[in-house]
Amino acid sequence: MIGIDKINFFTPNTYIDLVTLAKHRGIDPDKFTIGIGQAKMAVPTITQDTVSMGANAAFPILDKEDLNKIDLVVVGTETGIDESKSAASFIHQLLNIHPFAKAIEIKQACYGATAGLMMAQDFIKAHPGRKALVIGSDISRYGLKTSGEVTQGAGAIAMLVSENPRILALEDTSVSMTESIFDFWRPNYSDTAIVDGKFSNEAYINFFKTIWHEFSKQTELSFEDFKAFCFHLPYTKMGKKALLPLLENESDEIKELILHHYNLSTTYTRDIGNIYTGSLYLSLMSLLDSDAHSLKDNDLIGLFSYGSGAVGELFYGRLVKGFENHLLKKEHQTSLENRYALSIDEYETIFNKVLPKEDGIHPLSEAKFDNSLFYLSSITNHQRHYSKRQ
Ligand code: COA
Repeated sequence: MIGIDKINFFTPNTYIDLVTLAKHRGIDPDKFTIGIGQAKMAVPTITQDTVSMGANAAFPILDKEDLNKIDLVVVGTETGIDESKSAASFIHQLLNIHPFAKAIEIKQACYGATAGLMMAQDFIKAHPGRKALVIGSDISRYGLKTSGEVTQGAGAIAMLVSENPRILALEDTSVSMTESIFDFWRPNYSDTAIVDGKFSNEAYINFFKTIWHEFSKQTELSFEDFKAFCFHLPYTKMGKKALLPLLENESDEIKELILHHYNLSTTYTRDIGNIYTGSLYLSLMSLLDSDAHSLKDNDLIGLFSYGSGAVGELFYGRLVKGFENHLLKKEHQTSLENRYALSIDEYETIFNKVLPKEDGIHPLSEAKFDNSLFYLSSITNHQRHYSKRQ
């Protein structure tokens, strides 16, 4: 048995309330809160990036034994901070993982962390007794006053993958699918993504439908075999749009159960926004941290990963006995409750800040807003330097 032994997320402690944003933009708030299904959106200061967020997500779940047994560090991201040096190499150092590990970064839009998880599963199979750290970390940016603005967000997830996992044991069969399309992309010269919103919705729905049919054929599993499905969520309504047409012919009981668990899986995304590569795993944490007393050991959970461009994969796992004792539910909820609500002015000012590109030493500070453990503290001759608060 190989799977998720520990799991955590990090999101910056600054956010914008979406009712406030809607009113300011002259939009009916119901469009954001009901039509799109988002309530709050994480807004990172300039001192939080893919590396610092990834380290902040991973640090709380790793003990000394883990640091000595992790031989593989994979960071899935589509908002990397360097075209050559991987975010994983920085994180490996910040976390103090032993030197004989390998650290790499993977890119395929929001699918990257799932590619990392699959790689980690194979790696542990080939290296019994060892461990892998998988991180998904991103800042989602479409731009101020764009239609995608309400679906931005920022955050990271970290998973420790091992034998005899204490949370979710991964099954071996999964179905993936690739098709080269332009539903969402970001050219190298742009710091905001380009999205064909309607087309990306259609592509996501079509991927889930096509993959589900192939998956149910290969595994001979149907909806009634699953307790819940978690989805990559660019916004909380997206997974439901893909799920509903396939549930049409299911009994009311199955429909109700799957949709009940779906709703529980969207709570964190509703308050954070799209975190790209980490999104699916944020949904999983949202479901497991909820008071879903209907979930018990051995229940099957389906996970649908989608990365524009596009690659999708449906895989599944079994809840492990006692999984509820290994979650960071209280820490997650406290971190969301203790965030700072930005004014519109503060949000736009933070959004428009850019990192210095000139030679020289550039200390960075956002002490008023960012109190995270790891943060980007300077850019010195084009090198990023991170600090850890004592
Ligand atoms: N009250 C309640 N609902 C309202 C409303 C109101 N006043 N006004 C609009 N809505 C509903 C619409 O009916 C629609 O619902 P539906 O999707 O169930 O039909 C929803 O709100 C969105 O409205 P729409 O007009 O489609 O919004 P938009 O053109 O601004 O685009 C997105 C919305 C989500 C497509 C856009 O924000 C986007 O492209 N985001 C990025 C998505 C992404 O990341 N995709 C790639 C990764 S998978």
